[in-house]
Amino acid sequence: MGDFVASLVGGLNTRLIGRKILYYPVLASTMDAARKAALDGEAGGTVIVAGEQTQGRGRLSRSWVSPRGSIALSIILYPEVIYLPYLVMITALAASAAIEGAASLPTAVKWPNDLIVGGKKVGGILIENGWDGGVLRFSIVGIGINVDMEVAAYPEIAEIAASLRSGGRDMRAELIRQLLAEFDRLYLMLPAEGHAIFEAWRGRLTTLGKAVTVVSGDQAIEGTAEAVDESGALRVRKPDGSSITVLAGDVSLREK
Ligand code: ATP
Ligand code: BTN
Repeated sequence: MGDFVASLVGGLNTRLIGRKILYYPVLASTMDAARKAALDGEAGGTVIVAGEQTQGRGRLSRSWVSPRGSIALSIILYPEVIYLPYLVMITALAASAAIEGAASLPTAVKWPNDLIVGGKKVGGILIENGWDGGVLRFSIVGIGINVDMEVAAYPEIAEIAASLRSGGRDMRAELIRQLLAEFDRLYLMLPAEGHAIFEAWRGRLTTLGKAVTVVSGDQAIEGTAEAVDESGALRVRKPDGSSITVLAGDVSLREK
């Protein structure tokens, strides 16, 4: 696997993201390793890559299937708090561009954090922030993408998930390189170009205009996904004409 990291680092020409890449054959979760590294003062832009995860996680403590061969990584960042809403947008844009570049498959984004190919989930994004009182200390951006995964072997996701196929070449390294390069480009655009990033993200969403069910705890609300705003929140119009605005961290969304 030394070759894998060498090929990643060697092919990267980024200014911030991936200037340092730490590879671990097995981790519980790259989120925890990255959080620990951030608390120890690891440099911004450092990327933690796992060969496999034994306790990969999604939002709301759901588990993320992350066997050997798939992509599981976390990026350590120290953003200004005003830029937090853009992180999920940048990540979705970079990951979908990388999938389109390396696998030549059209990729959409299901609000807020799912990467969709052929109507199925091939990847997901998880962002966790480290707070100290009201002060943002760090953000960890986690990305998982299924590569050469036998989705049918995992009953809990068999119906909803799909995997990219590498077809013998080193698609994983190519995908990670493209993802980090595009992330770098977009992240460094941020101070001036937040609005352009928002517009590009909105353009990739499959969700707008669809009938959806918003699930929060044991409550389910039906409606039509109408709009997103620059904070990343989604507005859903209910059948009675009223609307609700939901935040990414709080809800699950089913599209119909
Ligand atoms: P969904 O879009 O499926 O409702 P979500 O985005 O609301 O999920 P998250 O917590 O963000 O929920 O994602 C975790 C979910 O992703 C799990 O509950 C499981 O259904 C699904 N999942 C887990 N591992 C994988 C994987 N490797 N590929 C695709 N989907 C997965
Ligand atoms: C989702 O729920 O859709 C997001 C899944 C995010 C998975 C990635 S894999 C790398 C990082 N480590 C984790 O434990 N989760 C994220």
